[in-house]
Amino acid sequence: MSFTVAIDGPAAAGKGTISRAVAAHFGFGHLDTGLLYRAVGALGGDPVAAAKTLRPEDLQRGDLRTLEAGQAASRVAVIPEVRAALRDFQRTFALRQGGAVLDGRDIGTVICPEAEVKLFVTASAEVRAHRRWRELGGDEADVLAQVVERDRRDMDRADSPLRPAKDAVVIDTTDMTIDQAVAAALAAVQRVYSAR
Ligand code: DC
Repeated sequence: MSFTVAIDGPAAAGKGTISRAVAAHFGFGHLDTGLLYRAVGALGGDPVAAAKTLRPEDLQRGDLRTLEAGQAASRVAVIPEVRAALRDFQRTFALRQGGAVLDGRDIGTVICPEAEVKLFVTASAEVRAHRRWRELGGDEADVLAQVVERDRRDMDRADSPLRPAKDAVVIDTTDMTIDQAVAAALAAVQRVYSAR
C-alpha cells in the first residue's frame, strides 16, 4: 500500500524535523527533496546535466547544509529542465510501498497533487532566521537577509512556485515548540491514516 505525506514550506520552518518525526512514527520512508536541488547546485557546471546524471552518492556530500548551498539550490531550482529531470525520481519515491514522506516546496502542488495528506509548515521570517542562525552561526542580520531572498526566489519563480496546496493543513510554527509542531503534524496525518 502506498500512502504519501507531502510537506511543503519555506526554509527553516521546521519541515525537516517534522518530516523525520512523521516518517519514524508511521514507519514511512523519507525524502528531503531540497537535498536534490542542493546537490545539483553544489556539483557546479551545467545544472541541467547535473540533474540528469545525479547519483545517490552526490546526496552524501558533507557541504550540502550550508547557507551557500541553500542559495545555490534555490538558484538552480528556478530552471524548468532541472525540475523536470528530478520529477520522476520524487514521484516514484512517493508511491513506494509502505508509505512515504516528502518535504520540499512543490510536493503537494506539483509532485504529488494526489498525496493523502498535505501539510504546509511555515513561520515568520524572523523566527526562521533565528533558528537557522542558532544552527549555523554567522551574523543574524545576514542570515535573515538570505532567508528573505530565498523565500522571494522560491515564491516568485514561474515553474512550481512555493505556495500551499488548496487542501493543505497549514501549521504555523512561529510560536510553537518543536514538540507542539510535531504533535500537530502527527495528529493531521493520523486523522487520515486511521480513516483508511
Ligand atoms: O528545503 P531546502 O532548504 O533544503 O531547499 C533548498 C532549495 O531547493 C530551496 O530554496 C528551493 C529548492 N527546492 C525546490 O525548489 N523544490 C523542492 N521541492 C525542494 C527544494
